[in-house]
Amino acid sequence: MHHFDYRNGVLHAEGVDLATIAREVGTPVYVYSSATLERHYRVFKEAVGEKSHVFYAVKANGNLGVLMTLARLGAGVDTVSEGEIRKALAAGVPANRIVFSGVGKSAAELAFAVEAGIYQVNVESEGELETLSKIAEQRGKRQAIVLRVNPEIGAGGHAKITTGGAANKFGVSWSEAERLYIRAANMPGVAIKGLAVHIGSQIFDFGALEAAFQRMRGLIEKLAAQGLPASRLDLGGGVGVPYELGYPFNYGTDSLETYGRMVREVTRGLDVELGFEPGRLIAGNAGVLVTRVLYLNARADRTFLVVDAAMNDLVRPAMYEAHHEIWPVTPSDGPMRSYDVVGPICESSDTFAVQRSLPELKPGDLIAFMTAGAYGASMSSTYNQRLLVPEVLVKDDQFAVTRPRQTYEELLGLDRAPAWMN
Ligand SMILES: Cc1ncc(COP(=O)(O)O)c(C=O)c1O
Repeated sequence: MHHFDYRNGVLHAEGVDLATIAREVGTPVYVYSSATLERHYRVFKEAVGEKSHVFYAVKANGNLGVLMTLARLGAGVDTVSEGEIRKALAAGVPANRIVFSGVGKSAAELAFAVEAGIYQVNVESEGELETLSKIAEQRGKRQAIVLRVNPEIGAGGHAKITTGGAANKFGVSWSEAERLYIRAANMPGVAIKGLAVHIGSQIFDFGALEAAFQRMRGLIEKLAAQGLPASRLDLGGGVGVPYELGYPFNYGTDSLETYGRMVREVTRGLDVELGFEPGRLIAGNAGVLVTRVLYLNARADRTFLVVDAAMNDLVRPAMYEAHHEIWPVTPSDGPMRSYDVVGPICESSDTFAVQRSLPELKPGDLIAFMTAGAYGASMSSTYNQRLLVPEVLVKDDQFAVTRPRQTYEELLGLDRAPAWMN
């Protein structure tokens, strides 16, 4: 479920109409709904049990307003870089609710995490384990960790977002997991607490998740039998959201109930604290990207609808062949037309939709790419020297620009001329 709908013929985010935001902030612009973020967090928490820890995956959407909204609900965060840890701290997430994941954490990043006193580092390789133990020991600390294990079971909406397969770079290998756990238990700078697993993103196949979780359970039982009881099990994120259900669509809470039931069954009798790292599920349909039609470019067999957003602003269609529903902000009464919706960037992958049927549109009209709240702005770039898109957070009938549009001074100020040119 989300809080974007039509009122008096205009698409609104909660109580604010998107045409007003477009006029005041300009386009393209990301717009997020607080009520949707809050609802998704609560529904997920309820599904997995109030005692579980929910660590929102910042990579999905690291906007300060989004993080502050979730932090106030008591959410923890899953981070994958020093930048994300810093952003979470700035948003008011206490260090003891921060998890640090990722296959390539640098020594400097690990040192920052240890000094900040974060809740847990999800260690993904033997080299990282050694580096982290040394760093913590030098500082007279013992960092709480879990071992991220590759269960050799992958799943996800696209090969590029499948992470749990044996050929994927993530986690320690299944065959090495037990040895590394025992090794970690004997290291001075770390306190090993349990296991973590994350097999991919945009997953609807709960059977694959269940099989991966079962493997973790088996390993936990094996370790306990050797006198190494785990107290934490981090089951990652990955639950999918519907991108293609058309208008109006709902996020079925029944699928989350099914997920919650499956988790309860797999973990029944295990004396561990459960953790989860949902990203897309929390932020996905809490955001839209509003863009303006610049031109119609008619060919014999198709009409290109050229909009002012581009693949640097929303890369999912170009990168993952992803589908986003397109809703006109003020739908016309005109006939339905078929459009190829494209951006201004100089490559053909800058295409949002092919042969999409929409109410007739003309230059100046606004459209919204729906379900753009996750892996939208957070994956944006300045490709083609385009300015980073502004982000707006709506709450009831108020809105705030939580990230202003980058300026050309800021963009050009990033570069330095080489000394020999002076
Ligand atoms: C370790 C880890 N946790 C959580 C997530 C969030 O996944 P999702 O947004 O599908 O919930 C990711 C996504 O790549 C991840 O790599």
